[in-house]
Amino acid sequence: MKTLNDFVTLSNGVKLPCLGYGTWQSPKAEAKEGVKEAIRLGYRHIDTALVYGNEDAVGEGIRASGIKRDELFVTTKHWITDRGYEKTIAAVEASLRNLGLDYVDLYLIHWPCVEKVTPEWKEINAATWRGFEKMYRDGKLRAIGLSNFEKKHIDALAETAEIAPMVNQIEFHPGYTQTDNVEYSKKCGMAVEAWSPLGSGAVLKDETLGAIAAKYGKSTAQLCIRFALQCDVIPMPKSVTPARIAQNMDVFDFEITDEDMKAIAAMPELGFSGYRPEEAPADALVG
Ligand code: A2P
Repeated sequence: MKTLNDFVTLSNGVKLPCLGYGTWQSPKAEAKEGVKEAIRLGYRHIDTALVYGNEDAVGEGIRASGIKRDELFVTTKHWITDRGYEKTIAAVEASLRNLGLDYVDLYLIHWPCVEKVTPEWKEINAATWRGFEKMYRDGKLRAIGLSNFEKKHIDALAETAEIAPMVNQIEFHPGYTQTDNVEYSKKCGMAVEAWSPLGSGAVLKDETLGAIAAKYGKSTAQLCIRFALQCDVIPMPKSVTPARIAQNMDVFDFEITDEDMKAIAAMPELGFSGYRPEEAPADALVG
């Protein structure tokens, strides 16, 4: 990846820009200004979710940017309270209304339903996915995918899916790289996206990472973003601070060596959110 808007081609041919702007934990006012600033600086890929409570503000930021809709790539996510076919269709319509858009470029199941919630978890995910497939076929969603799915949930969905998911968005940063999940998702034909590529800020004080970043004359945040890119994982760093929004896209003028990539990949666990689909209580799952 050489520039901000180089892209990964999804399995249906849709082009996904290789670096995105994240909005998890951005309150409305900051989300609007942050999105507008990110687009002004050159970001074309914006990631939000119903549960972030800022879809309307993200939509305002997009409109305020003055950039044409078809030059942007907008992702939002389905929430756990909208599971099932009919509710999913209504949820897509609601997110489109919130965003003020006619379509989104990518729509994701935010968290899989799991056995702990109900023995019917497979059927529920399958029904949700049928809703995704309908809205995809209707042209409201240019691409559809998953978030926080692990092998078990991916395999179960594949038993009934008519359209294979195109993306899996998971927590990924130095100190929590979920290598098996990244590899399996790719093997299943999905592009992998990173939420919290900076570990929600928790990895930025790490001295080992700081020392590696310093060798390249870069910040630890830039090292984390570049690390994801070199793992062929699409990072979507969140910041509401203009200088950081600019810094986070300035990651195309250096290359982490193989040796440093290995050292970063081998770091002990650091900055893990604590969220896993089978473990965290459902109402805690927001990442
Ligand atoms: P802020 O939004 O106040 O600028 P992640 O993308 O992993 O969720 O991390 C987001 C967190 O990291 C936010 O707290 C954000 O703060 C902070 N952050 C984002 N970019 C940088 C940066 N370049 N330097 C330091 N902190 C950053």
